Amino acid sequence: MSTTARLSRSVPTDLAALIADLVPSSGTRTAVIAMSRDDHPKATVMVFVDGQREPLMALKVASSPTAAASVAREAAALRTIAELDPTCVAGLAPRVQRLLTLGTTTVLVTSARPGAPLSTAYHRLGHTGSARSVRADFALAAAALTRLAAVPTASSLAPSSWLRQLATAPPGEDTADADLLRQLSDVVGQPSRAGVVHGDFWCGNLLHRGGRATGLVDWEHATVAGDPLRDWVRFALAYSLYLDRHTRPGHRVRGHHDLRCGPEDAGLRYAVDGPGWYPDLVRGFVRRGLGLTGRDPQLWRQALLGGLAEVALTADHADFAALHRHALRALA
Ligand SMILES: Nc1ncnc2c1ncn2[C@@H]1O[C@H](COP(=O)(O)OP(=O)(O)O)[C@@H](O)[C@H]1O
Ligand SMILES: [Mg+2]
Repeated sequence: MSTTARLSRSVPTDLAALIADLVPSSGTRTAVIAMSRDDHPKATVMVFVDGQREPLMALKVASSPTAAASVAREAAALRTIAELDPTCVAGLAPRVQRLLTLGTTTVLVTSARPGAPLSTAYHRLGHTGSARSVRADFALAAAALTRLAAVPTASSLAPSSWLRQLATAPPGEDTADADLLRQLSDVVGQPSRAGVVHGDFWCGNLLHRGGRATGLVDWEHATVAGDPLRDWVRFALAYSLYLDRHTRPGHRVRGHHDLRCGPEDAGLRYAVDGPGWYPDLVRGFVRRGLGLTGRDPQLWRQALLGGLAEVALTADHADFAALHRHALRALA
């Protein structure tokens, strides 16, 4: 939900003073566009200069030590990327302007990227039922990941796969998932070289306009020398989650003949094992990620199952972990 208000009424005064300091001699408006109210409160505030349609800056305001650590990690990742690639991933990644402490909050100030998050289009009625629209979204994601792959990394060594890293020190206590993860990581193998990994590559963090990717935000989980396949798998799985959003329970999902609105993991299972244009698209996408990281494209199924195991073991929210675990058990 987006709320826009005059600066003086919308943000705490110390933040208002910070913005006045960052944008002297201009009137500004702010819009709070994302706010998490969980144990680690964080808000994203976009700053607009009066008279301009595009935001000038994004402020990520963290109000707990854990949230502060996350935005500090994001700042570090973005700074390293800017050093490795002065174009900042061909302009997709924001530039860090400041990381500072204001009272009890930590604030990360970055440049704003233009465009709208792809998640807005995704949730629009009819969007994911259109093969043409969905293909365009996957093409957008592939273009962004291909740009990411072009960032020179500090290390020329092949890292272990992201699955192997997880399997070596599995979080949580589910040994069945951990065992499966180990087996999958053996099969999927390691990437041919290390690359930048965004780490939370889904529609909500990918901005677009006019059919082109315009921004990639939210780098809290990024690593600069990891296994890039992780982002390809993550995108495909996350995209598959809510295909049935606008469908009544038990009914066929429009545009997806073989998917019915049912259990929460229906879209995930359909993506991995279903027939039709959508599962084909997912496979083609993951094959591309496998090829790009020097692996056998035929391993797409194992890579997707590995991605399910990853979420089952690492998701913050128990329900989200459980639905991925359910899909994994049904498919494995
Ligand atoms: N630098 C930026 N430029 C443009 N929009 C941004 C920028 N940073 C964040 N946003 C917008 O704010 C939303 C939330 O920010 P994000 O960094 O993804 O926070 P969260 O960790 O809460 O997901 C994004 O989905 C995007 O729409
Ligand atoms: Mg985000």
